[in-house]
Amino acid sequence: MKKLLDGVRIIEFPKICDPRGNLSFVESARHVPFSIKRVFYIYDVPGGETRGGHAHKECAIVLLALAGSFDVRLTDGTEEMTVRLNRANKGVLIPPGVWDTMHDFTTGSVALAIASHPYEEEDYIRDYDDYLEYVRTLQQQ
Ligand code: TYD
Repeated sequence: MKKLLDGVRIIEFPKICDPRGNLSFVESARHVPFSIKRVFYIYDVPGGETRGGHAHKECAIVLLALAGSFDVRLTDGTEEMTVRLNRANKGVLIPPGVWDTMHDFTTGSVALAIASHPYEEEDYIRDYDDYLEYVRTLQQQ
């Protein structure tokens, strides 16, 4: 049986190094494995705060640290892994069905999220017990 965490991938975006400042770019379906429908960003995170704490049923997300760094904890309810995002051209692909939490933000960090779907609250699973039940249901299919 395929594990949800098997779909997690580190993605390196192109980086054009230049003495005037570096440049990276992301193209829909080329650098991320989906058509980009939405971009959102998280910033001004107070010390010690966590963001995320949910899973999506359909939406895939690529997360990166545009500035500073933070940890992304990913779990399928059984196994877990943590990815430190600390470079503006390194992202993590979070497939649908994986529970993610972002924590240990450094001061001034900016998280960029690139999403495969528009915002739809019905796509979120925000309660961890509901999530465990959801994963159990997936496994029975
Ligand atoms: P939430 O998903 O809880 O943020 P995070 O997972 O990054 O900690 O979203 C916080 C609020 O913002 C919530 O009320 C929904 C709203 N929101 C939108 O309206 N559009 C969006 O694209 C996102 C990501 C959130």
